[in-house]
Amino acid sequence: MKGVILDCLKNMVTEKFGADKWQTIATKSGAKQADRILASVDFDDKLAVSLIDSTCQTLNLTFEQVAYLFGEQWMNFYVSKIYAGYVSNVKSSKELFLKLDSIHSMVTKNMENSRPPKFTYEWINEKTLVMNYISKRNLIDLFVGLAKSVGKYYKETILVKKLSSTKVQINFY
Ligand code: HEM
Repeated sequence: MKGVILDCLKNMVTEKFGADKWQTIATKSGAKQADRILASVDFDDKLAVSLIDSTCQTLNLTFEQVAYLFGEQWMNFYVSKIYAGYVSNVKSSKELFLKLDSIHSMVTKNMENSRPPKFTYEWINEKTLVMNYISKRNLIDLFVGLAKSVGKYYKETILVKKLSSTKVQINFY
């Protein structure tokens, strides 16, 4: 997983819970203290998952709650700053969801060793979208938490419901 994801997790924990908590989490996960998180460097997926799991344990939060907090940090400080160009014409959560597949393939096109998640779409009716999440990492709960934070970012009420380990239903109002 790209360092930018770990960097975002680290900043979320540090800003919301304190640097000492991050130190505990990093130590628990076996991340070496000397490890510097560079955005474009690829880290072992196992380390990424272990850092998220240790964050849940240390902060006594569920995986989805951590994913939601991660999503807030991701939308506010990474997407709207580093990746602003990809979302400049996106005005709603629905528009962002519909662009997610192309955004992930564009952003990672020139990143060595990237394996971005893929998304396909099925409209059930005009207000109900089912997204298929395709990734060998099987991080559907990360997707669910992140998707909920997208609704918050655009100040919209959306309902995000996991249907299976590959399908999420999103209701727009
Ligand atoms: C402009 C917005 C976004 C950008 C630029 C972006 C970019 C990225 C990048 C670079 C990765 C790492 C890929 C790798 O290491 O191979 C990633 C992973 C991921 N992204 Fe995004 N992302 C964006 C928004 C979102 C949103 C809104 C969601 C969900 C609603 C999402 C879901 C995920 C998930 C679940 C992963 C983990 C990797 C996996 O499951 O295989 N992303 N994203």
